[in-house]
Amino acid sequence: MNLNFINNNNSFIITGALPYANGEIHLGHISSTYLPADIFARFLRKLGKKVYFICASDDYGTPILIKAEKENKTPEQFVQYWNSRDREDFASISISFDKFYKTSSKENVEFVQDFFLKLKDNGYIYEKDVIQFFCDYDNKFLPDRYVLGTCPYCNSDNQYSDLCEKCGRVPQEILDPKCGICGKPPTKKSSKHYFFKLSSFSEKLRTWLSENENLQTDIKRYVINWIDEGLDDWDITRDISWGIPVPLDNAHGKVFYGWFDNHLCYISTTMTILADENNVDGKKFWNDSQIYHFIGKDIVYHHFLFLPAMRMGVDNEYKLPDFIPCRGHLMLQNQKISKSRNWYIGLRDFISQYDQDYLRFYLASISSYSQDDINFDWDLFYEKINNELIDNVGNFINRVLSYTKKQYNGIVPQPITEFDSDDKICLEKISTIENEVAKFISSIEVDKALKEILKFSNYFNQYFQTKSPWKNKEGTANTTVYLSLNAVRELTLVLEPFIPNSCSKIWLQLGYSETETEKIKTNENVIDKEDNNNKDSMEKLKIRPGHILGEVSPLFKKIEKSDIEKQKLKLQNNLSVKT
Ligand code: 2FM
Ligand code: ZN
Repeated sequence: MNLNFINNNNSFIITGALPYANGEIHLGHISSTYLPADIFARFLRKLGKKVYFICASDDYGTPILIKAEKENKTPEQFVQYWNSRDREDFASISISFDKFYKTSSKENVEFVQDFFLKLKDNGYIYEKDVIQFFCDYDNKFLPDRYVLGTCPYCNSDNQYSDLCEKCGRVPQEILDPKCGICGKPPTKKSSKHYFFKLSSFSEKLRTWLSENENLQTDIKRYVINWIDEGLDDWDITRDISWGIPVPLDNAHGKVFYGWFDNHLCYISTTMTILADENNVDGKKFWNDSQIYHFIGKDIVYHHFLFLPAMRMGVDNEYKLPDFIPCRGHLMLQNQKISKSRNWYIGLRDFISQYDQDYLRFYLASISSYSQDDINFDWDLFYEKINNELIDNVGNFINRVLSYTKKQYNGIVPQPITEFDSDDKICLEKISTIENEVAKFISSIEVDKALKEILKFSNYFNQYFQTKSPWKNKEGTANTTVYLSLNAVRELTLVLEPFIPNSCSKIWLQLGYSETETEKIKTNENVIDKEDNNNKDSMEKLKIRPGHILGEVSPLFKKIEKSDIEKQKLKLQNNLSVKT
């Protein structure tokens, strides 16, 4: 995807997969989904686009009911706690949702019920008696996570009956089942369920996948394989007390399966925001926008099959996603993250110890746009923060600003010499960096974008050092400082989607109070390389001679090696099952 595509579209709806309302947000969630989505959303806003960045807590489902029961809470109380907690945690790392709502909102409940009735009217819903697991001991039907067993596809044991976490498939029937509450083998009983005719969408899904060039090729390949193997119709109801009621007279006590309702919350939440805006037709807005659903690779099945098929089933009243950016998992010190083994780092814990921008910077720098797993490594975190964020970026900014404060009383100097060839290269870099970075963020390659930014900063570090304005060789000091200050401005502009908090501080130090007005410009300000005229070139620089800087102070504090060693030890000590 290229920058032209972004430039040619004005409105964007971005969603991050909805976190289950039953556990804390950890670094894995941030790296696979919310950070790339946030960088992209912030970038689009800086281009002046209309952006809605949406998320919600995923409130329904058996695991949540089980956990609430264990804590002696009502499911409502339970999910309310996690909804608030998630909000706080996302705010602590500046994930800039326009709305963080919940699947149990009245708007979503109505939307889902209505959606179901439309699917039914269109002939895509049927009833069928199913033989269901039933635990005689607990006197309960046992849907999904209430049953553990062996995956029929890949033979992994200890998998939930509704999703094999090893191979990512949804088992038709789990082998060697056990009740998730008491561990005893369940019996079977008949119960009426509602099915969605997923199978009748096979060809349409195949066409959609084959024709959509925005979807990642490797993912399309294996999803099409699943279609080739044959899609099963999908049981969308459950016999439990916590969920959206099936809106039919003869469906008493039946609720929707969480994966029927959760992704509809992307739409219902967007409609809720748009309903508050004057004169906006929500449906039209949705259909006129570019739709991005950011996810982790464990929920490909649901987003590439269930979600599009359901939208197709209501005649594309709400259009299908244009992009489903999907990333791999985060490993921790080269081992798979596991909450049950306590091998994970909670976001809250991390942010209580390090600046949020350290985490954003580090995760963005390792987050490739692919399904490959990436690795959180404490030593690499230490190196990247100290060497790249602080020694490269922070030092350059602080050095130039402090120098201007000291030597020019904080007033941007007037260049008094003709630009030499080094200066001209600087000028060109200043003029092109926004485009270079924009190209990569447009295609959601945030790691590559950050690399470009670091190259830029590194270049200017060397430029400032080589020119040594304190020597004022042939009267060039003013020019060097002037160009470097403009480089600082560019750096702040392009870094803002990555490390927004630190950039707010830099804007103030640069003497700007209104950061909002600073927009990234693409395809407009590229300077003609042959342009030898100082005056014309300078017109294109944004920080003008005479501009006054704000108060200047160091932006970052280095991480101590001893601190990193402590973190590694803490992780090992917390590990609940030693390997
Ligand atoms: O896998 C999960 O964590 C789910 N709660 C994601 C839901 S995304 C959806 F809403 F489509
Ligand atoms: Zn499996």
